[in-house]
Amino acid sequence: MSDAPILSARDLAQSYLVGGGLMRAGFGLQALRGVSFDLAPGRTLAVVGESGCGKSTLARILTMIERPTGGRLLIEGSDPVAADRAEKRQLRQKVQIVFQNPYASLNPRAKIRSILEEPLVINTAMTAAERRAAALSMMARVGLRPEHALRYPHMFSGGQRQRIAIARALMLRPRIIVLDEPVSALDLSIQAQVLNLLVELQREFNLAYLFISHNLSVVRHLAEEVLVMYLGRAVEHGPREAIYRQPLHPYTRALLASSPVADPAHRRARLRIPGELPSPLNPPAGCAFHPRCPLANDRCRQERPELIRQDGRLVACHAVEEGRMALAA
Ligand SMILES: Nc1ncnc2c1ncn2[C@@H]1O[C@H](COP(=O)(O)OP(=O)(O)OP(=O)(O)O)[C@@H](O)[C@H]1O
Ligand code: SF4
Ligand SMILES: [Mg+2]
Repeated sequence: MSDAPILSARDLAQSYLVGGGLMRAGFGLQALRGVSFDLAPGRTLAVVGESGCGKSTLARILTMIERPTGGRLLIEGSDPVAADRAEKRQLRQKVQIVFQNPYASLNPRAKIRSILEEPLVINTAMTAAERRAAALSMMARVGLRPEHALRYPHMFSGGQRQRIAIARALMLRPRIIVLDEPVSALDLSIQAQVLNLLVELQREFNLAYLFISHNLSVVRHLAEEVLVMYLGRAVEHGPREAIYRQPLHPYTRALLASSPVADPAHRRARLRIPGELPSPLNPPAGCAFHPRCPLANDRCRQERPELIRQDGRLVACHAVEEGRMALAA
């Protein structure tokens, strides 16, 4: 299996103009402040962080729903911003998305078969018979029965609806799937089934996954690499083993301590990360985590830490750089 990236993100940034109106200038909200990573075929990168840290903004850029205001995205070496219409269309087919709430993303008035056939109608020259066969075959692949084809989304359970959304995402044989909290709305037992299905499909189709979650324990067995985000920036990014064995950034440590554990026998007392996530409209100076960090000092309040390589991962923290982390371990 080649490890050459199929998707590269370099310094991706996104700002939104908010609060503007007639005669009133808006404010620039920086939802994403320069995120970089590579993703190889057949691999999974987990992007983890609290609500509002910019995960879905990143997902919208990767799936070309939005254009970034800064940085560069390359999909199989092509930049969608520079691509012409035909090339953009091809690139769009390569990257598909599965959302948290399949009920909102599936047309309630369409039968499952037409939901699955729709991308083929729009993007391929397949005949009706070929489309029907492809839809039925994909339904079987994700664990749905043939008689489900003529039912509507509301007739399914949450887990089944998510299987339908996954099947739809696969109809055009994409290379990359962005999974935006794909199991967060499901019961724990159903979560495990859907995660297992995703693992099987990844192997079968050699898919690259960008798996978004607010919960580090959900992605533990799936992701080879983890990128922890705080207020639009990566604060720690590295191989799964390093991040879970010895998280270095105080935020990663707090997230791990506060993650609910799927197995009740090993459930820890859930810790809460103290303090609220600051508003991205008015981020703290210096290290954005400093108001919540037990290790914050004057330098942290003034100077933003850059990502540096440390113990086999990238981490942005003055305490790690200064060797103060060991004291707090
Ligand atoms: N279209 C938009 N216009 C203005 N602000 C936006 C827009 N989309 C997102 N934001 C803001 O950007 C920040 C990041 O939002 P985003 O949805 O990417 O977060 P998230 O990490 O996906 O959160 P969650 O876990 O709740 O889904 C938030 O402060 C959000 O309010
Ligand atoms: S840079 Fe300072 S405030 Fe930020 S996480 Fe590290 S120790 Fe905490
Ligand atoms: Mg989101």
